Amino acid sequence: MKLVIGSDHGGYTMKQEIIEHFKSRGFEIVDVGTDSPASCDYPVYAKKLTDILKAGEADLGILICGTGIGMSMAANKVDGIRAALCHDVFSAEATRSHNNANVLCMGARVIGAGLACMIADKFVDTPFSNDERHIRRISMYSKL
Ligand code: RB5
Repeated sequence: MKLVIGSDHGGYTMKQEIIEHFKSRGFEIVDVGTDSPASCDYPVYAKKLTDILKAGEADLGILICGTGIGMSMAANKVDGIRAALCHDVFSAEATRSHNNANVLCMGARVIGAGLACMIADKFVDTPFSNDERHIRRISMYSKL
């Protein structure tokens, strides 16, 4: 599986830690930046990441900002993107299984890197259930 990951300045340090974590698990990673803790605009990185996902150049995405909220709002503006803000392992599993989320958003000012890696592991390791009722519900809100 190939992952794409991005952050703003608020998520930069956590992004680097998550990249190292997944590299040690043998994953291929596309890092869309940011490349330093200098202040920047999170929608720029949400766009870079969703462009790669939509082009089929990665399977799942991870976006990190201070809260995870701005990144999730920005990513969810993009057709075909289902971004989920998760700060616990249960939600990460549920959003893959029920919502077929393709982007995980987290806030580096909300949780630490240890928990973030556990949440990201659960997100990446959980398949979509393919349950008919979940497919129907995703299809319903995708047309809104
Ligand atoms: C940047 O200060 C902060 O606003 C951003 O990282 C994020 O939390 C926005 O939702």
